[in-house]
Order: sequence, then C-alpha cells, then structure tokens
Amino acid sequence: MTTNTVAIQAQNLKTHFTLRSGVFSALTGKEPVAVRALDGIDLTIRRKQVVGLIGESGCGKSTLGMSLVRMYQPTGGKISFFGDDITNVQGRNLKTYRHQAQLIFQDPYSSLNPRLTIGEIVEEPLRIHRIGTAAERAKKVADALDLVRVPGSEYLHRYPNALSGGQRQRIAIARALVLEPKFIVADEPVSMLDVSIQASVLEILDELSKKLGLAVLYISHDIATVGYICDHVAVMYLGQIVEEGPAEDILTAPRHPYTQRLMAAIPSVSGERTRERIELAGDVPSPLNVPPGCRFSTRCPHATDLCRTKAPALENDNGTQRVRCHLYSAEDMAPTTDFGMV
Ligand SMILES: Nc1ncnc2c1ncn2[C@@H]1O[C@H](COP(=O)(O)OP(=O)(O)OP(=O)(O)O)[C@@H](O)[C@H]1O
Ligand code: SF4
Ligand SMILES: [Mg+2]
Repeated sequence: MTTNTVAIQAQNLKTHFTLRSGVFSALTGKEPVAVRALDGIDLTIRRKQVVGLIGESGCGKSTLGMSLVRMYQPTGGKISFFGDDITNVQGRNLKTYRHQAQLIFQDPYSSLNPRLTIGEIVEEPLRIHRIGTAAERAKKVADALDLVRVPGSEYLHRYPNALSGGQRQRIAIARALVLEPKFIVADEPVSMLDVSIQASVLEILDELSKKLGLAVLYISHDIATVGYICDHVAVMYLGQIVEEGPAEDILTAPRHPYTQRLMAAIPSVSGERTRERIELAGDVPSPLNVPPGCRFSTRCPHATDLCRTKAPALENDNGTQRVRCHLYSAEDMAPTTDFGMV
C-alpha cells in the first residue's frame, strides 16, 4: 500500500432525507418531499491525506461525513473503501467497516460518558466489538493514549470532568483510534475548544494521519485551521462539491465564484481568527427546492442565462483544481481569467 493508495472514494453519492412519511402522504394526498442533502458527490481521499471540507451551514458537510462512515444509508451512488464497494453493506460486513471508519464529534464535553474512567472510555469500543483479552485490551488502550500524548499512568483512572476540553478531545481521538481505523471523519473537532489549544489537537490529527497512514476528512468552518492541517480542500454548496484541489491553491487562488466569496467573507483568511459560522449575503436556496441550472446562480454576480438553465459539471480546470462553473468550461464560454474576487 503506497501513500497514493485511494482509501475512500465517493462516486455520484446521494443522500436524501424524506420529510413526509408514506402515511402522511396517504392521508393528505401530498407527495413525500426529499431534502437533497447530498446530490452527486465525487470525492477521493488517499492514505495519509487530510482533506478539508468547507461550506456554509446546511450545505451537507456532516451528512457527507455520516454517509461516508455509513451512519447514514446513501440514497444513490457508490462508496468504495480500499477498492471494496461498501455502499450497501449490512450486518457483519457493516460492523467490520465501522471498525475501520471512525467519527470524531465536535463536542468533547458531551461525547464522553461522565460515569466512566478514561481507561474505560477508551476500552469501550474494544469491549463492544469483543476484541482481545483484558491484557490485550489494556495494551491497546495504553498505545492509543500514547498516540494522543496523554500519559496513561496519570489519566487512566480519572473521570472526564477532571480533564480540560483539549484533553477530552484527545481522549475522543484515542477512543476512535483504539479500533485501528483506516479512515477518520473529524466533524468540527476543535470548534468548541479554546483557540490556544486547537493547534495541539490538530497537530495530533495530522501526525496520526502521516504515522498511521490514516485518511482523514476534516470538516470545519474555520478556514485558518483548514489551511493548517489539510493537504487538499473540497468546497460544498447545496449538496454538491463546487471546487476542490490542493489546499494552498483553493485557499489562496480560489476559482469558483462561491469559493471566492467564502474567502473574501472570512476574517481568518486575512489573519484574524474566527469561530463564527460562515455567513454570506443572500439567502441559500432550500435543498428541498434547488434552483435549476447552476445551484449558485441565485447569488452569483456572474450568472448568465446559460447558468440559470444548464447545470455545470465538476471539471478539471488547471490540472490540479476541479471547478463546477461555466466560466471555466471551454465548451460553454470563451475562457478568460479576468474574474477577480467577487
Ligand atoms: N436527519 C435529517 N433529516 C432531514 N433533513 C436533514 C437531516 N440531517 C440533515 N438534514 C438537512 O440536510 C441539509 C444538510 O445538513 P448538514 O447537517 O449535513 O449540514 P452541514 O453542512 O453539516 O451544516 P453545519 O455547518 O450547520 O453543521 C440541511 O438542509 C439539513 O436541514
Ligand atoms: S456557473 Fe454561472 S452562476 Fe454558477 S458559479 Fe459559474 S458563473 Fe456563477
Ligand atoms: Mg455539520
């Protein structure tokens, strides 16, 4: 397995939530409505790669994370894990997959059971999956705590309330690592932590990715932390990826008008850190009723009639970045580079 090995790949992935049940529809005569939270996602994450996922609130970031670890059942498309199709696996195969694909949540205060000691919390997944003898489990717990730089001898018998937020989040990471996963989704893992300790938790994630060969999807509103930890960035808008490529290119030379607006709106890019949610001018259309053509056309200053009728594809633009915009599609419009930041 080389560094380049594809760990996880989504192809045309769709996750829709049905809001009205069949019974409701039968009673009212109204059709069930679907929230198209993910609507054709193509994304690849390789071993040792940390991919950042950014976009406004409600664009589908958490749904993508939950779908990739198969906490949600996708509605369509395909998810491959080291080449195996795991889109619809169930039962034992799903359990095996879940060993290998772990989720780290945002809130280290409520994600740890306050009645268990740190040792018990980290050991719990091994017990649930009936892995190893007591001695083998103790060794795995000690190794996982080592990896997150929490000295087991000191913390094993403590309770979460005796830990700082940063230490709790390290314990949450150790708990995810104890099953020796190959893929981790970290959904805003440091957004509730003090800025002064965010870097140390991110450093651990980055180090683990390289040391253990982990593929990581890092979901965040904080572009500064994305620039700090990610090799590659994907930008989501209304259930689709609108731009992706190397982190440096996306953060410093965004091509898609939406990414350009995101970068212009976020103070952290110009040096000042923020933990605020990303908010841009103009209403985000509902995922219950997505606009025809380009989904960003209702807010884009460059929108043309073509944009309002024909949906652009996510296409390779300059060899490294992929962009979903007619401005960059040679077939649709004469190429130009004079778009500036919007
Ligand atoms: N279980 C669910 N049932 C119905 N709709 C849902 C469900 N989960 C998410 N949604 C909807 O799907 C869309 C995407 O939600 P998601 O939580 O993935 O967004 P997000 O990008 O993670 O937002 P945030 O940045 O606020 O965490 C939203 O419109 C949301 O209301
Ligand atoms: S396709 Fe048109 S509306 Fe959509 S982002 Fe590009 S220029 Fe704007
Ligand atoms: Mg979310």
